[in-house]
Amino acid sequence: MAAFRVPEYLAETAAREPEMREWLAGLPQVVAGLASRWSVSVGEPFEPGGQCSWTAPVTGPSGAALVLKVGFRFGGGEERDEAAGLRTWDGNGAVRLHAACDGDSSYGLLLERCGPGAPLGHVLPEPEQDVVVAGLLQRLWAQPYLVDAFRPLAQMCAAWAEEFEAGYAAAPPADRIDPGLAREGISLFRELPGTATSQVLLCTDLHADNILAARREPWLVIDPKPYVGDPAYDVLQHMLNCDDRLAAGPAALADRMAGLVGLDRGRVRLWLFARSVQESVGSPLMRQVARNLAPR
Ligand SMILES: Nc1ncnc2c1ncn2[C@@H]1O[C@H](COP(=O)(O)OP(=O)(O)O)[C@@H](O)[C@H]1O
Ligand SMILES: [Mg+2]
Repeated sequence: MAAFRVPEYLAETAAREPEMREWLAGLPQVVAGLASRWSVSVGEPFEPGGQCSWTAPVTGPSGAALVLKVGFRFGGGEERDEAAGLRTWDGNGAVRLHAACDGDSSYGLLLERCGPGAPLGHVLPEPEQDVVVAGLLQRLWAQPYLVDAFRPLAQMCAAWAEEFEAGYAAAPPADRIDPGLAREGISLFRELPGTATSQVLLCTDLHADNILAARREPWLVIDPKPYVGDPAYDVLQHMLNCDDRLAAGPAALADRMAGLVGLDRGRVRLWLFARSVQESVGSPLMRQVARNLAPR
């Protein structure tokens, strides 16, 4: 049997996270167990792969092209509801979930395989990515969901705000945004979920590398981290990858995304300000975006 391969990005995460190294040691057994449970034959993992999962193409008993994802459970648990979100969307804009299995430190998903599977970020230029991201988000937001099955966005924001405050306190002054903006941005990050006028099932991690070219539909969403809350939050992750446009004019980018999804421009700008503060420790670009968008 070929040696068990750990894809590049997962190996990088494991080098930083001691608890993940232990998990990696047991991963070959977990993969073998899931392969036998679901009667699939497992191929070599995707490269460079995801940062928090071991994911590979697999073939089902009747030849179906599927994917096995074995994810690492972090303490914060942002990935907790990936299966529930995919089950809710049931293939409408996102990949179909065929089966799921929960363990203590891992979770396994058996997913529809996207072919050819190229990530949106490698295929289309950014302005065209905007349109695809916006179209998919609007479809995901429009679908009914069970409120009690998911956590509120406010919970994720509160946890991230706490992490920001610890990181800010520990960082050298050159890596920090000025204290006034830090306070204003992070309070807003905590408060915005509570002032939303609508609540939807959010993807929260939708960016151009989590959208893959497919045949059933041109593009399908993978890897959601579902929470319930303000749809205006959900355009942020894509914008955070658009470095050149963030540097040139973050308000214009926020306005464009707000326009494409039909949401209030001012609110999307506020979210982008708050999120850029939350991401600002050690990031000159995020500090520049925050200063540029700070409400006057
Ligand atoms: N359904 C799928 N079809 C084809 N490739 C997939 C599928 N799901 C994941 N992949 C591949 O595996 C990689 C990691 O998957 P992802 O769910 O994004 O993991 P992570 O949670 O670690 O980011 C993706 O970037 C993609 O290359
Ligand atoms: Mg991913």
